[in-house]
Amino acid sequence: MGKIFEDINWLKFRTHSISDALKSDKGEYVRLLGWIASKRAMGKIIFCLIRDGSGFIQVAGKEGITDEKALDAMKRVSLESTVMVGGLIRDDERAPKGKEISVKEFKIIALSEKWPITKSAIKSPSFLYDNRHLSIRGRKAISIMKIRSELIYSSFDFFKKQGFHLINAPTLVQSACEGGATLFNLNYFGKIAFLTQSAQLYEEAAICAFEKVFVLQPAFRAEKSKTAKHLTEFWMLEAEQAFATHEDIMKLEEDLLCHMISNVFEKCSEELRIIGRKFSPPDPPFPRITYDEAREIAISKGIEFEWGGDIPTEAENILSKSFDKPFFITGYPLSARSFYHMADPKDERITLSSDLIAPEGYGEIATGGQRIHDYNTLLERIRKQELPVESFSWYLDLRRYGLPPHSGFGIGIERLLRWICGLKHIRASTLFPRTITRINP
Ligand code: 4AD
Ligand code: MG
Repeated sequence: MGKIFEDINWLKFRTHSISDALKSDKGEYVRLLGWIASKRAMGKIIFCLIRDGSGFIQVAGKEGITDEKALDAMKRVSLESTVMVGGLIRDDERAPKGKEISVKEFKIIALSEKWPITKSAIKSPSFLYDNRHLSIRGRKAISIMKIRSELIYSSFDFFKKQGFHLINAPTLVQSACEGGATLFNLNYFGKIAFLTQSAQLYEEAAICAFEKVFVLQPAFRAEKSKTAKHLTEFWMLEAEQAFATHEDIMKLEEDLLCHMISNVFEKCSEELRIIGRKFSPPDPPFPRITYDEAREIAISKGIEFEWGGDIPTEAENILSKSFDKPFFITGYPLSARSFYHMADPKDERITLSSDLIAPEGYGEIATGGQRIHDYNTLLERIRKQELPVESFSWYLDLRRYGLPPHSGFGIGIERLLRWICGLKHIRASTLFPRTITRINP
């Protein structure tokens, strides 16, 4: 069993975070709290790489120089134990970031058992995900999650500056936003309820109170497909704006994405380096092609599909690989879209909607468009798609009480992060992924 030594307030001993220690001048005395990320002995010197929430630093203890008790603790300490280290900052070219701590104090706070995540134990990627509660401490996983954190912070920052109100919507719902095929059903005190697929319908109610709203919350899809881009639970960033057209909303998506990516690029260069991703922020404007043009490109590359359906994954992959920055596909047929999409008055067979596609084969990252704001048109559409009118009664009701033309979009955080970080599988873009085959840990 892992062992905790003294039940005292360790926080009061800490003088520096690791990132602050790395900025300290040589000769300064620092005390850190953290985890043993790696350890090696070279002759009479023991090196440990210490990790805290702010970074990594190398510390060194030398026989004959370092206090005996501290050196003994360094010898005993195992990987991933938590420690308190005190010592003097010294410059050392060979140390990561050119600074090292010459150890004076070394106390083990919680001794870890033998760390199970070793190179020889990793026989398949699923081992890492079976042990995700531990493997998230790995350098790459930490870097991806720091980029995720920056992305989300920057989206909030963007929406705040643009005058959007942050709202929260329920995750237990009775009205399906994106069709019955991917609904998770649950028993709600004897009635059927679902886990939400999108906050959009609630955002549409909220715009009459706040005009511009955004939401970041989990969305659930009972995706039967085992692919590298589908999760069953993911985080969706959605925005909805009163009086806005589809055109306005595409501009908003473009501005948001450019802001988020340039922020990550500026703040996370070290993390991008660690995960080995070479990436430069895209410049606006993003190219636009129509559904018909997308279909022609796909057909010219040997992928046939009938007009009116969703763009098949194979075709989306090819399209995505033919661009070097994100692009919009507009003018999706009515038959390929959910009930709420507004038809284009210039061509009633298509919708005022678009998908935003990431380049390099990463595919769809966002969907947006203008919503039907007229009561009768919406009712007719609900009936045509044979959806249960009762469960949309409140949503229809909005159309009776001053709902203006409006538009919005939803962007999948994990899809966006997968592209930014260049990840093979979407599961690496979330801390505890949920897929068709995984609900643990
Ligand atoms: O395209 P979707 O289904 O659109 C909506 O839900 C709209 N109601 C959003 C809105 O207009 N407010 O989902 C939006 C985005 C997708 O483009 C994709 O990035 C992500 O959510 N997404 C998924 N991400 C991971 N796993 C899945 N199974 C996903 N399904 C959708
Ligand atoms: Mg979509």
